[in-house]
Amino acid sequence: MAAFTERMGCLFLAWLALCLALAQAVDRSNFKTCDQSAFCKRQRAVQPGQSPYRALLDTLQLTDSRLSLQLINDINKVHLLLELYGLQGNMTRIKINELKPLKPRYEVPDVLISDPPTRPLSMVSRDENGAVLALGPPGQRVIVSARPFRLDVMEGPQLLLSVNSRGLLVFEHLRERKDTLSHKISSTVGSMWDKMKSIFSSDTSKDALAGEGAEGADVPAKEGAEKDGEQEKDKDDEQPGMWEETFKTHTDSKPNGPTSISLDFSFPGVENVYGIPEHADNLKLKTTDGGDPYRLYNLDVFQYELYNPMALYGAVPVMLAHSPQRTMGIFWLNAAETWVDISSNTAGKTVFGQMLDYVQGASETPQTDVRWISESGIIDVFLLLGPRPADVFTQYASLTGTQALPPLFSLAYHQCRWNYNDQDDVRAVDAGFDEHDIPYDVIWLDIEHADGKRYFTWDPNKFPTPRDMLQGLEDKRRKMVAIVDPHIKVDTNYKIHNEIRSKNFYVKTKDGNDYEGWCWPGSAGYPDFTKPEMRAWWASMFSYDQYEGSMANLYTWNDMNEPSVFNGPEVTMHKDALHGPWEHRDLHNLYGLYVQMATTEGLVQRSGGVERPFVLTRAFFAGSQRFGAVWTGDNAAEWDHLKISLPMCLSLGLVGISFCGADVGGFFKSPSTELLVRWYQAGAYQPFIRAHAHLDTPRREPWLFGSENTALIREALRQRYALLPYWYTLFYSTHLSGHPVMRPLWVEYPDDATTFSMDDQYLLGRDMLVHPVTEEGSRSVTAYLPGKGEVWYDVHTFQKHKGAQNLYIPVTMSSIPVFQRGGSIIPRKDRVRRSSSCMTNDPYTLYVALSPQNTAEGELFVDDGHTFKYQTDSQYIHRKFIFANQSLTSQNADPKGQFSTPAWLERVVILGAQKPSAVTLHAADGSQSPLEFDFDAHTAVLTLRKPAVNVGADWTIVLR
Ligand code: GLC
Repeated sequence: MAAFTERMGCLFLAWLALCLALAQAVDRSNFKTCDQSAFCKRQRAVQPGQSPYRALLDTLQLTDSRLSLQLINDINKVHLLLELYGLQGNMTRIKINELKPLKPRYEVPDVLISDPPTRPLSMVSRDENGAVLALGPPGQRVIVSARPFRLDVMEGPQLLLSVNSRGLLVFEHLRERKDTLSHKISSTVGSMWDKMKSIFSSDTSKDALAGEGAEGADVPAKEGAEKDGEQEKDKDDEQPGMWEETFKTHTDSKPNGPTSISLDFSFPGVENVYGIPEHADNLKLKTTDGGDPYRLYNLDVFQYELYNPMALYGAVPVMLAHSPQRTMGIFWLNAAETWVDISSNTAGKTVFGQMLDYVQGASETPQTDVRWISESGIIDVFLLLGPRPADVFTQYASLTGTQALPPLFSLAYHQCRWNYNDQDDVRAVDAGFDEHDIPYDVIWLDIEHADGKRYFTWDPNKFPTPRDMLQGLEDKRRKMVAIVDPHIKVDTNYKIHNEIRSKNFYVKTKDGNDYEGWCWPGSAGYPDFTKPEMRAWWASMFSYDQYEGSMANLYTWNDMNEPSVFNGPEVTMHKDALHGPWEHRDLHNLYGLYVQMATTEGLVQRSGGVERPFVLTRAFFAGSQRFGAVWTGDNAAEWDHLKISLPMCLSLGLVGISFCGADVGGFFKSPSTELLVRWYQAGAYQPFIRAHAHLDTPRREPWLFGSENTALIREALRQRYALLPYWYTLFYSTHLSGHPVMRPLWVEYPDDATTFSMDDQYLLGRDMLVHPVTEEGSRSVTAYLPGKGEVWYDVHTFQKHKGAQNLYIPVTMSSIPVFQRGGSIIPRKDRVRRSSSCMTNDPYTLYVALSPQNTAEGELFVDDGHTFKYQTDSQYIHRKFIFANQSLTSQNADPKGQFSTPAWLERVVILGAQKPSAVTLHAADGSQSPLEFDFDAHTAVLTLRKPAVNVGADWTIVLR
């Protein structure tokens, strides 16, 4: 039987390989459009209009920070419970669930880092039409309108956003299936869908609703519903796809029937919305009128297409709404399949617009309307009320946590391909980097390293002595990452499989058997990572005695964790598979997060809680930033794929996930040499930099393209290594604040409309602007330097340029256009070695870029680079550098820091300087010594030689 299964597996894989080879681009027919997804279609058929929901004000209760209120759907009479919480930090949470669901509906666990701290709400006024509550911040109110139900959040006279103003609150209540319980159905249950559709498609006037009892008192309305209830129920159950849905060869049984939810939000005055990754699309989201909504459903999409709203590997249901006046966010905490519609109109056409017009005296105000639709669960939405981009990041981080502080090596360069064949291959590639003097830190092993794709094992022929191999890397202070996918080969000779099966840890089919699907190893089981006991067991598998051949310098890559199921619907798990009491449908988008969470925990535990983990994941959800890095999956060696890597990582950064990169060189196909070089140059300035390539592509280690190109790649990577102190400091700051490492320009220049739809350049932190060359055959790029009254310095030539201008930059193959903001200080280590840890004690250089006011500021974070001691024992140095009044001072930014390092300051380079007559170093002990310096009058660069002070010390350098 096992042999048969094995053979079938091989046949299947051979077939798959053939398909992969033949296919050119995504086979769209493998993935649903909204129209092919029954709940999306049903929901989208509901047109904006007057909401059938009414708030029952006599049920309103206000206790400190919580408002609760029942809503009634005047058509089907189903009651919902609305809860509204005032949260600290200028946020509001709205939860809507059925008042009495037939059984509990899924509420997403493990994503919020704690119960969000609340703040009191108070009643401002109340009458039979609604209530007005004060939210806390001065002048902030929420207006609860009763009929129809809607919420409007105001600040002073300004309407910030409205909820259900377009009447798209739709809540498919749990119901018993008619054919099994035909006479038990309550006569008050009518057909919500047909009624609503008929109402909205014909006449949305009050009269039409009144006829249905919406405007009347309870009794007539109920009668209205009862009158034709039976007929309507029939039609209700006739809605296609409510109790079963077939897509291609897969039938999704839906034992719970229709459970989808939807809600709309309107942002008057807003024209720009961002976020909701992962999509291979522009940074600024497009309106979805006439096309599909943006889809959030973690999927393994083979050869994904660019510039469309199709779902990809990860999903973060967070959207930012931005205007020069205000930035806000919506966090829709739901892990089921989700679709997001975006439309834009003029506020003048709506009630809110009219209100706004009245207040602002404008005739037409732009407005963005969005509508969220999810297949199951509850409505649980956080309104992040800003007002500035930085506030929204802080607000979201307070809910889901910040980016884990990566081990320093993981910010350096990673060399991967599918596959490095054996130990000799690894040794040769490793030696190649030394031979060609190219820095690198990590070599990666893909699925072929394991014994028959049994993760946690090694192929005995190709990798007979993994510890020797790892020790060889360790001797050069380098690391390895090996892949551990979450599909487990069904094989009774495989320990991992046997244990998972015997512990009953596999996801189950709807019938209660272990769920099996096809993936790399052939038939595979899928551990139920939603179970804490399963995650704890999985974590224990990373201990050195369990994971044979592993060592402390071996880290982990989690792939295929959408999860990918080659023979499943849309290449993923059946929605009616079971995780304990919950359907896969309810939590699909969370699965990948749990895989990375459990793996991360394993890497932490194996070191007794001392060492920081590194785990790369392909699938992700809100909160995944706490567990490591993500990459953008299987891109292609094409210029457009290089281009799209910018907005894809920028979108992720906006929603908390800063540690992002794309396969350098492109995964599928072979890059031209020019594309490869440009990709290294761009990748050197993206947060996660890893070269990767498909199994079938020719080798492309950096020295295979002639010495000239080797030199270009070497130079790009040397720039990366020199800037590691800046990257690390940026990640530390992101780890504290939640602000993205890689930022769209508008984050720092929120008023500058020129920046709102920029995809081809970005900021690293506040102080570095990058405009990589992403066009074939480029002779020039035009970069926009923001900031009226500011200046920017070319980091290579030190030439100074004014802000608020488009700068034409001639480029050659060696150009990587990067600028440092005048007013900033950036630390570098200019002596690049073969790996980042070889540079640990190397001296620093400070690049001080003066503002027009002759000032500058910057920071430096230093710790051991790999443990949690910065947290547990305050083992860090956090310095602040300030240049003002012709003096550069190093101050302790955080006196709690206890770390010490032998690293010293070898140079200070001041850009935009004037020639001093003397330079003096004032040390902490009061001593003073003159410093040597050079001044280049042509570039206005002043270089101070050998201050030779410890980088953790206090000192001042005075120019005279
Ligand atoms: C998936 C990954 C890719 C990896 C391959 C084999 O396609 O996205 O990076 O190389 O699987 O493991």
